[in-house]
Amino acid sequence: MTTKQILIQHNQQHLLPLLDSLHGEQLVSFTNQIEQIDWDMVELWQHPEDLSGKGRIRPIEGLNLQQIHRNAAAFRAAGEQALKEGKVGAVLLAGGQGTRLGSDAPKGAYNIGVTHPLYIFEQLVSNLQQVCDHCHCVVPLFVMTSDLNNTATQQFWQQHNFFGYPQEYVRFFVQDMAPAVDFDGKLLLSDEATLAFSPNGNGGWYSSLARTDILRQFPSVQWLNVFAVDNVLQRIADPVFVGATLLSGCNCGAKVVRKCDPYEKVGVLCLEDGISSVIEYYEMTDEMANQRDAEGNPAYPYGVILNYLFNLDKLRFTTDKRIPVHVVKKKVPHIRNGQLVVPTSENAYKFETLILDMIRLMETCLPFEVVREHEFAPIKNKTGADSVESARILLQQNGVIL
Ligand code: UTP
Repeated sequence: MTTKQILIQHNQQHLLPLLDSLHGEQLVSFTNQIEQIDWDMVELWQHPEDLSGKGRIRPIEGLNLQQIHRNAAAFRAAGEQALKEGKVGAVLLAGGQGTRLGSDAPKGAYNIGVTHPLYIFEQLVSNLQQVCDHCHCVVPLFVMTSDLNNTATQQFWQQHNFFGYPQEYVRFFVQDMAPAVDFDGKLLLSDEATLAFSPNGNGGWYSSLARTDILRQFPSVQWLNVFAVDNVLQRIADPVFVGATLLSGCNCGAKVVRKCDPYEKVGVLCLEDGISSVIEYYEMTDEMANQRDAEGNPAYPYGVILNYLFNLDKLRFTTDKRIPVHVVKKKVPHIRNGQLVVPTSENAYKFETLILDMIRLMETCLPFEVVREHEFAPIKNKTGADSVESARILLQQNGVIL
């Protein structure tokens, strides 16, 4: 099918004039962009509500702090052995745009230091390095970027000499992009010859990684510890967590914090039709939020913090296609009639997959409780809650010199 036919078939006639006005490389690039579009996904804008159906939700059994403490030695031994045998890799999700932080640079390049520079990437590497030093091993580290920040991210790591981490154990890979459409489903342009693409959410990390040959370069890796760029306190490749997940027989493990109130805005681990799943805070009913177990404790206590351990064999059975695509309203700057339009309110749909939807694909997930004040300092905003300010306080409380 020609590009013209594709555009007509998918009701994108507003782009047809570009096929005449563009020439040379610009025309080739534009037709390539059109030919690579996943139309099944783009056409979801017409019925986003179809995606939210949930099954029967029930509480999930997890390991609470006391249980972890009681079994820590066995968990640690199993985890350290797996780490020493090279069975664990780490995946840093750094493809997001970090719009709330308001910096154009990659989020990990943000300086959170006070008396000396301390970059988010540097702090994360330092957290991982502590485990490596303790276990006398090096954990392969795979960093996911996006087309928007890949060059800047790689340059930053080079400039800072990989923050002291052995460079031969670090790999970068680029996540897929998805086009944005206006509220009538029309593809938007970011300049005269380029569609307005943005990263397709953090749920596409495995399909993007699997397309590279990175995993083949580290054949001993059987488990992947996937974590977000913005939690500067998190422990990565934590041997106790690794060991507990391996010994549990589950296909994945999730670090969780106990929710501080029934309506806290975090995703919650649960069982959905008997299978592990994460339910978003806005999907919780009042009854679920306030439900108690036999001992009178909250029945749904475990909030996820985007630190998961995935079994690679099980991941290989999952495909991107089975992850639900979320259709979200966003402000997307674009070109209209040759002019740049910078919207002040939401004007477009973006298409994103979310890592929390992978928990259901993994079928069994071990909730592993961690102490919030020791392992959860997310940086989403500049000030206020979950900000550079709040993370600095938490880092200092944990002995990090800023
Ligand atoms: P967030 O959901 O906080 O999104 O990402 P964000 O893009 O970083 O920030 P805002 O919402 O624009 O302010 C959680 C984690 O998922 C990664 C982020 O880099 C972060 O580690 N992520 C998010 C990706 O890797 N790719 C994406 O497309 C989206």
